[in-house]
Amino acid sequence: MFEQIQKSVRAKLLVLMLSTTLVALIVALFVLAIYDVRNYSEKWVGDLSTQAEILGRSSAAAIAFDDPQTAHENLNLLRVRPMILAAALYAPTGSLFATYTRAGDAADVFPESPLADGITINGNQIVLFKKIVESDVLQGTVYIRAQYELLDRLLDYLGILAMVMVLSMLAALLIWAWLQKTITKPLKDITDVARQVMESRDFSLRVNKTTDDEIGYLVDAFNNMLAEIGRGADALLATDRMKDQFLATLAHELRNPLAPISNALYLLNQAGDQPEVAANARRIMARQLKQLVRLVDDLLDVSRITTGKLVLKKEQIELGRVIDNAIEIARPLIESRAHRLTVDIPERAIYLNGDETRLAQVFSNLLNNAAKYTEPNGAITIAVEAAGEDVLVSVTDNGMGMPSEILPEIFEMFTQAHISHDRTQAGLGLGLALALRLVEMHGGTIQAYSAGIGRGSRFTVRLPMLLLPASTAPEPMSGGQTACRAQTVSGGGQQTGFCLEPGGPSPR
Ligand SMILES: Nc1ncnc2c1ncn2[C@@H]1O[C@H](COP(=O)(O)OP(=O)(O)O)[C@@H](O)[C@H]1O
Ligand SMILES: [Mg+2]
Repeated sequence: MFEQIQKSVRAKLLVLMLSTTLVALIVALFVLAIYDVRNYSEKWVGDLSTQAEILGRSSAAAIAFDDPQTAHENLNLLRVRPMILAAALYAPTGSLFATYTRAGDAADVFPESPLADGITINGNQIVLFKKIVESDVLQGTVYIRAQYELLDRLLDYLGILAMVMVLSMLAALLIWAWLQKTITKPLKDITDVARQVMESRDFSLRVNKTTDDEIGYLVDAFNNMLAEIGRGADALLATDRMKDQFLATLAHELRNPLAPISNALYLLNQAGDQPEVAANARRIMARQLKQLVRLVDDLLDVSRITTGKLVLKKEQIELGRVIDNAIEIARPLIESRAHRLTVDIPERAIYLNGDETRLAQVFSNLLNNAAKYTEPNGAITIAVEAAGEDVLVSVTDNGMGMPSEILPEIFEMFTQAHISHDRTQAGLGLGLALALRLVEMHGGTIQAYSAGIGRGSRFTVRLPMLLLPASTAPEPMSGGQTACRAQTVSGGGQQTGFCLEPGGPSPR
């Protein structure tokens, strides 16, 4: 029983209401009873004294003239007071002069002689002696014996208490039933939903809000918390799935170079006196090793970035050099896929405050992606243009493009828009995430555009330029503001150069 109360708010509320009502009633009735008993006692004693006084004074003459008949008649008037059981008048000598006993009662036994003035309470009877004194002369004594119903009154009170309690408890129960609807029912609803959520892990469940008070607020807060936890759980699941996918990709990526390396090793062992076979085997091994190192470097960079340990070595650098380095890194892939690369850089040197290696990493990632996600013989352009105090570097290709819905997520780690089964476009989905963080660390932004699958892509990096005083700025070449340094790196042996001016590409 006690355990049930402990576990239920409803039971606690019920006990609270009933016990409060009970305590309030007992205290109120106790105070009332004390007040009434005191009041009753004082009033009854005063009343009897007055009665004795009146009786004495009206009977003084009868005693003086030895007229017991009149005294008797006076005493008989007491019959209108049924609470008075017996009364008597004593002569000044102390002898019994006249007596009265309530009608219907057996003749009373009266004291032989009057006792001292005063009131004595004896069980449920009260006895009073009062001397009749007139002009300092004792005229006689009045004796009255009456009922004193204190105990009866107390018993009455107990009866009333019991009745009031029963009625109040009934009223309290009715109030509780109503309160239960507005207070404990919503609380119970919350508990029920919480239990269901715990059992089914279904965070889409909600509690119905029925009140606008604190409990209504609690219901809202509870529902919001459920929504929040639900979102968190979904995000965790998605991350978990991504991690699983990433691990599978990583395993593939790390394993891919191993087969050619072991083949090359075999060839190396078998080469004997064929130096060209051995050289070819070494080339294969070097290329695959480079691929492995690149993967591990990307992983290390990601872990440095997520732990905040990646530090840039910033200095004054020239953008043209950075882009040359990036092209150098991407060149093998671009050439191997026979793409045509157009480079459009203004002749005027543009300076940045940045880390040359890291920025080259950003652009080589973009170029590598362009080469990777464009079918062989595609066209890739890297272009630089000034935009106010910033410089925009864009890498455009006419390759596979991306669906528009993936664009907002493309810079998140492990996101890949194309799942290649033959793993010709293998990767870990880290390149763009790294590029974004590195660009942000340089105070810049990076954006991806694509008109859709098969419609090419463009990645634009915006970086703040380093504005040098005129004296330190290098001389522009051949006086042309639109002069450009354009070249085409072609996989197919073409050597035609292009200079992309505002009006469009023009053969050099
Ligand atoms: N130039 C591009 N054309 C089409 N899709 C691209 C291009 N660059 C990136 N992507 C898409 O963005 C994804 C993420 O790129 P990235 O972070 O470099 O990872 P990875 O190249 O290792 O897959 C790629 O898997 C690819 O689906
Ligand atoms: Mg990539």
